Amino acid sequence: MSEKIQFFLPGPTYVLEEVRAAMTRPMVGHRSAPFKAFYLSLSARLPQILRTSGDVMVASGSSTLVMESAVVSCVQESVLNLTCGAFSERWHSISKSVGKDADKLAAPWGQALDPDLVRRALERKRYDAVTLVHNETSTGVMNPLAEIARAIRDSSDALVIVDAVSSLGGAPVETDDWGIDITLAGTQKAIAVPPGLTLFTLSDRAAERAEKVEHRGFYTDLLRYREKHREGGFITTPAIPLLYALDRQTDVILAEGMEARWERHAQLQKRTAEWAAARGIGYASAENARSITVSCLAAPEGLDPQALVKALAARGTTIGGGYGDWKPTTFRIGHMGEVRASDLEALLAQIDEELEKLAPQLAARA
Ligand SMILES: Cc1ncc(COP(=O)(O)O)c(C=O)c1O
Repeated sequence: MSEKIQFFLPGPTYVLEEVRAAMTRPMVGHRSAPFKAFYLSLSARLPQILRTSGDVMVASGSSTLVMESAVVSCVQESVLNLTCGAFSERWHSISKSVGKDADKLAAPWGQALDPDLVRRALERKRYDAVTLVHNETSTGVMNPLAEIARAIRDSSDALVIVDAVSSLGGAPVETDDWGIDITLAGTQKAIAVPPGLTLFTLSDRAAERAEKVEHRGFYTDLLRYREKHREGGFITTPAIPLLYALDRQTDVILAEGMEARWERHAQLQKRTAEWAAARGIGYASAENARSITVSCLAAPEGLDPQALVKALAARGTTIGGGYGDWKPTTFRIGHMGEVRASDLEALLAQIDEELEKLAPQLAARA
């Protein structure tokens, strides 16, 4: 019998028992022949998840490490950071903190980025790269990534650098078909592996640009990652138990199939939306921009979202509170990774029971 899932954070997410168990395999040397064989077998399968015919590297660090490394390695001077929430703002903070000429094009929180505005910004000024977040975990907004990537490619020679941290493995991310130069994603969200690893691609075009950047650092040098990866290893000692977990979970993901996985996530979002609508609970994200991996719901009049999060926690169930400025007004249900329809139903039933106590006027509508 598989475990019931009661953990609905928008990352980290629930990890299957067999994947957790894989981390207890005995240690091997990371320069040994058995490790190299293991890593080659893992890296032969990862491109199917990132939808690329190119290399997929693994960094032993969280997504922010690879965000910073991408800017340090591939941006010579100027970068346009597209923002619409807390994690896309992080791209801008990183770009400024490493001394790049960084401009920001912002959509309001809760709204998706507009490809036409991106196109116009690129007509006004030349940039080495554009950064964006596919799925803004803070606001539950999923940006139209294919359209934005096309706008960037059609109107400029800027690199397309994408944080797909909370979408990869749960929603379509077509690295090659959409012309993305760097797709990066930590493994702790829809990939459903414990935190600490980040997968990323590097297009030939991005690698050529990186060669022209003089100071790429050591730990932040994506070319160094690629070189070591091609030799079957890592720059430094990697988090070997996490790689064992990733290896097992990669089999789980590919056995389900990417399209089936995306469809399961879409159905989970649809069910959450139906449930919320029946109770008069609206989304904080615009209707045309709703994420299929995380629902960010606006707490209606009379419901304190933090009280709901606490009440569920007392029952051993975890959902996400609001993020940053949205903490007092929203709550988030992460329906990503290994969550099944039955787990979501059990969660929604528990929320109904808590609403009866916290906001009976809402529960009565159902
Ligand atoms: C969209 C997005 N980007 C970046 C990050 C940062 O990831 P990490 O904390 O793994 O560095 C997160 C974390 O939640 C995220 O949701």
